[in-house]
Amino acid sequence: AAAEKGGFETFMAKEIHEQPQAVADTLRGRIDETGQIVLDEVRMSDQDFRDIDKVFIVACGTSYHAGLVTKYAIEHWTRIPCEVELASEFRYRDPVLDRSTLVVVISQSGETMDTLMALRHAKDQKARVLAISNTVGSTIPRESDAVLYTRAGIEVAVASTKAFLTQLAACYLVGLHLAQVRGIKYADEVSAILDELVAAPGKIAKVIENLEPIRQMARDLAESKDGAARVLFIGRHVGYPVALEGALKLKELAYLHAEGFAAGELKHGPISLIEDGTPVVAIVPSPRGRSLLHDKIISNIQEVKARGAKVIAICEEGDAITASHADFVVETPASPTLLAPLLTTVPLQEFAIELATALGRDIDQPRNLAKSVTVE
Ligand code: G6P
Repeated sequence: AAAEKGGFETFMAKEIHEQPQAVADTLRGRIDETGQIVLDEVRMSDQDFRDIDKVFIVACGTSYHAGLVTKYAIEHWTRIPCEVELASEFRYRDPVLDRSTLVVVISQSGETMDTLMALRHAKDQKARVLAISNTVGSTIPRESDAVLYTRAGIEVAVASTKAFLTQLAACYLVGLHLAQVRGIKYADEVSAILDELVAAPGKIAKVIENLEPIRQMARDLAESKDGAARVLFIGRHVGYPVALEGALKLKELAYLHAEGFAAGELKHGPISLIEDGTPVVAIVPSPRGRSLLHDKIISNIQEVKARGAKVIAICEEGDAITASHADFVVETPASPTLLAPLLTTVPLQEFAIELATALGRDIDQPRNLAKSVTVE
């Protein structure tokens, strides 16, 4: 079993380290010589893609968080309205869909019953369905009109890591594909983003080389009396779904009460949870470019610090402003805002694994959870 884990203590640790390769594999060969993105199986014409006037992304769990990130990218790159919904909710209401709606279903296993039912619900209403899945030939891709496979390889740990990062990579490709087939408004931006995507695996590897500080924080927290109570995660823009994913990892692995919030919502309720010593993990956007967003999260950090929070900030390297406000910082390489989740998620995965290990949890097989949920 030790050999299967490639020298790591757990499959999850191994899979965290496989992320640069998994993302590189998922991108490889997907951009043809004309710079067009290539889907694997497409039972839809370019005209079908041009006719799309609305996108729904439907998924569960970690895959849903990949969908949330994608909404920001798709709406920015394509100007097509995009909604993201949990499969178990989508299926039992009356979403407004027709032939010009693209429903993107994201499922690592390709067998999640909630997502499969949502897919069938969409097809009953004649919507086009594009699947993003890690499992070739599984039910969800088989029943979809188009497929883009992630190439994470087999993910053994119940808590998803490399599958999530490859879902993000695939989702970015889908967003760029939509932008391209529809005539590109941001042609320069799209080609710059493609270059940045190709550079992402190297940056993810850098994040992985620099995980010891977050491990230390997790161990300190596990020993402190506040550490085992609750952890809050805050973010804005694509940092918000990253906050949700960080909190989900901690719930799954450490059995801690962890919640992710849109930082702007703090004042509408969650800030009342802050007590002296409450750990708050803040996902900080790049200080360059969208500095407004950066200013806003710095204010949020100040608000929670004023109430006693202990702030761990995930920020871009060299972000001196964040370093001067937070108690601890974990730096990630510079990246365009929309692609930053490929980097900022990784320290949160490590945070969860380390805290859970310190609390004596079973990392690869958390209680009550299954890798693939094939019942509703
Ligand atoms: C289960 C797993 C999660 C996963 C979710 C969706 O709850 O424990 O890690 O994110 O299912 O799975 P899927 O295979 O559809 O992506």
